[in-house]
Amino acid sequence: METLDALRGKRDTRSYRPDPVADEVLDRVLDAARMAGSAKNTQPVRVVVVTDQADKSALKAGGDFASWIDRPPVLVVMTVRSDAGPRRLFDVGRHSQNLMVAAHAEGLASCPVTFHHQDVVRPILGLPDDVEAPMVMTLGWPGEAEGESPIAGPRVPFGDYVSRGRWA
Ligand SMILES: Cc1cc2nc3c(=O)[nH]c(=O)nc-3n(C[C@H](O)[C@H](O)[C@H](O)COP(=O)(O)O)c2cc1C
Repeated sequence: METLDALRGKRDTRSYRPDPVADEVLDRVLDAARMAGSAKNTQPVRVVVVTDQADKSALKAGGDFASWIDRPPVLVVMTVRSDAGPRRLFDVGRHSQNLMVAAHAEGLASCPVTFHHQDVVRPILGLPDDVEAPMVMTLGWPGEAEGESPIAGPRVPFGDYVSRGRWA
């Protein structure tokens, strides 16, 4: 897939086939995520891949809008060192978007999901005290109801999105 097509065509998907994702495909996607840059090149982001059904079910309670995350075959939890400074969520975002666009280029569906409750997530994943897991990326082959996002809508028009020289 062409890069611009991958970027423009990616939509967040909550419908998945149960089929597993082969390790070589998953590793290509994870490696694309790994290459994201970070503030001062501190590289504070690590990922935890979760495929165990019981763990996926337990992680549903980690987010307020995560009741469906036991359905995708793979969860990639984005973790970051808590002491990595105020830009750490930007770093998580770069890794997350790399991961999801690479997944899309491989034909995989994905969706970012917020973990609001670190106290729930922490013991399930065995996170150290100085590591947090703000987001999880769902991954898998798209299901029948692809693109069924409950709050999906068109993007802001180009002319409203871009102003040149001054805020408009
Ligand atoms: C920072 C962030 C947090 C999100 N958290 C959740 C979430 O907790 N649960 C969920 O189902 N989707 C979540 N989403 C997905 C958004 O709902 C999705 O990006 C938006 O509706 C656009 O969807 P579309 O690409 O299908 O148009 C999140 C997205 C972002 C960027």
